[in-house]
Amino acid sequence: MLTEEKHAIIKSLVDSSTKEELIWINGYLSGIINDTSKNKTIDHNDAIPIGKKLTIVYGTETGNSKKLATDFATKAKKKHIQTKLISLDQYRLSDLLKEELFVTVISTQGEGEPPVAAQKFYDHIHQNGFKLLNLEYAVLALGDSSYPLFCKAGEDVDEQLLKLGGKRLASILKCDVDYEAEADAWFDLLLNGLNVKLATSSQVKDKSEVIVKKPAGKTIYQGKVLTHLNLNDRGSNKETWHIEIAADSLIYEAGDSIGIVPKNNETVVDSIIQIVKADPNTLVNYKSESVTIYNLLKHKLNISNLNEKLIKRYADIIKQEITVTKIDLLALLKIYPLQDEIQFIEVLQNLNPQSPRLYTVSSSPISTEGEVHITVARDVFFVEEETKYGVCSDYLSSVNENEIIEFFVQKNKRFKLPSEDKDIIMIGPGTGIAAFRGFLYEREAIAARGRSWLFFGEQHFDSDFLYQTEIQNWEATGTLTKVNVAFSRDQKQKIYVQDRMLNNGSELYQWIQNGAYIYVCGKKDPMSLDVEKTLIQIIQQYGNKSMEDATRFLEELKDTHRYHKDVY
Ligand SMILES: Cc1cc2nc3c(=O)[nH]c(=O)nc-3n(C[C@H](O)[C@H](O)[C@H](O)COP(=O)(O)OP(=O)(O)OC[C@H]3O[C@@H](n4cnc5c(N)ncnc54)[C@H](O)[C@@H]3O)c2cc1C
Ligand SMILES: Cc1cc2nc3c(=O)[nH]c(=O)nc-3n(C[C@H](O)[C@H](O)[C@H](O)COP(=O)(O)O)c2cc1C
Repeated sequence: MLTEEKHAIIKSLVDSSTKEELIWINGYLSGIINDTSKNKTIDHNDAIPIGKKLTIVYGTETGNSKKLATDFATKAKKKHIQTKLISLDQYRLSDLLKEELFVTVISTQGEGEPPVAAQKFYDHIHQNGFKLLNLEYAVLALGDSSYPLFCKAGEDVDEQLLKLGGKRLASILKCDVDYEAEADAWFDLLLNGLNVKLATSSQVKDKSEVIVKKPAGKTIYQGKVLTHLNLNDRGSNKETWHIEIAADSLIYEAGDSIGIVPKNNETVVDSIIQIVKADPNTLVNYKSESVTIYNLLKHKLNISNLNEKLIKRYADIIKQEITVTKIDLLALLKIYPLQDEIQFIEVLQNLNPQSPRLYTVSSSPISTEGEVHITVARDVFFVEEETKYGVCSDYLSSVNENEIIEFFVQKNKRFKLPSEDKDIIMIGPGTGIAAFRGFLYEREAIAARGRSWLFFGEQHFDSDFLYQTEIQNWEATGTLTKVNVAFSRDQKQKIYVQDRMLNNGSELYQWIQNGAYIYVCGKKDPMSLDVEKTLIQIIQQYGNKSMEDATRFLEELKDTHRYHKDVY
């Protein structure tokens, strides 16, 4: 293919090059080949220092970090940088010692924890027993500023890599839910820094403030409420709403969630406007938008759960000390009145945007095309004996049929049905039943051959057996092979799903040994923790294993994707 003359030139170049130079030449050539948009030779300033490879790792729960890291890798490759992109659960931890340029994109989950897929990496770097002397790194943290521990996992990784001897290429960027533009700009600066010289902290600003909270890169659906039904009967302590929503061109799968940005309660909004004697039509500059006071309060702002930073800001505005640490805006205004509308506008401008809340879908598109169903528990809590309701679940409890709800689909790739011939064990008390209603509709629609076992629990059989008729029909028709229910308050001694699991321990272990997939959905604490302890106990008892071996056995089920959790 080459003339003899060109072949000789290449051979001579190869023979005289070191291994590192060959790696660089390899990247350089593949850059030229892959770059179809340019028909020119590459300026050497475009390339990063000879021999240095870029590794981009991501730790994700719902896919945002993966998408961002993939976009970064695509950009880097276009710049002819030899780039490796890898998920942290696939990453060989021993490779860390060899890394040179290392970018981590990681979200925060739970209460300031790393995503499950990043846990091993996170634990590894916290062991401290090694030095990363060649490492130059940067961390992009994804989070949501309405959580108290904003971007905590990213912060931890950033600090820990520094402690281990790494050098920062740029200071950490902590991104809120509308991260795309900001993250893009950060990575562009980082790449430029790599090409010319290493970016300094001042070049890449640590910007944790958001402009407007809009979930990045998501399709927003305009859903129409078809059905709105309280699943609890008279006498129940609870309100659990079954909501069916229709939307055009809807794409989701059973096991996914939908995200909804709530509207604030009208009475609360009116009370705030009255108490400060503000004109609801006054336009206010909020971040980069101009919005009326009413629309800000109703649609845009988190007015229900102010964090310490905001309370401190409020105290600065009124020049008075405030001792409370958790409060809503209305209560704050009542206890610490403002002087005028000007002060009120300043307060509004400092409030955080409203965050979306997630709800696991309780339907399958295979069974109800064009519709998504959710199962929402109205959240009740008490502040100094006053009854309060969670913002989004309260909003969803009071929507009307035919009303339009905006939502987006939050994919959950890890919470998916296995092939139809596999057995599944589903543990889902309370609203945890949502995911399994979706699974069972799907298994029914495809006439799955695998066996299905459901554990469901609530307070009372009479008033709280959510989706009772459907569950009993599935049992009668064989879509459900086995059902165990636990109604905690129907007898003196409390009985929970984990007790039913223990009662059926031997059979449960046989199902697991036979290849069954285990799913847990619902409250993280204490339910999913107790269920996990019980699973270990059953494996220990019926598998004749030590506690350590049983724990390892469950870990292996996790690693082989046979143990899944969708807990919150
Ligand atoms: C992946 C996922 C799936 C989920 N699926 C479901 C589901 O299927 N069904 C379901 O019902 N839920 C589900 N959730 C939970 C749901 O997203 C919401 O967290 C829940 O509905 C509560 O939101 P809220 O807006 O009603 O309450 P918020 O207003 O967010 O309040 C939540 C809590 O914060 C505290 N709080 C708020 N304001 C104050 C204050 N001023 N003072 C003191 N404390 C305060 C209270 O403890 C309150 O209970 C899921 C969550 C996740 C992450
Ligand atoms: C259950 C749950 C808990 C979360 N906890 C936190 C938190 O403690 N701190 C934070 O900054 N963000 C938190 N977030 C927000 C996520 O980090 C944010 O949505 C991020 O974009 C997710 O990225 P991923 O898809 O890569 O996981 C939480 C989100 C969920 C669903």
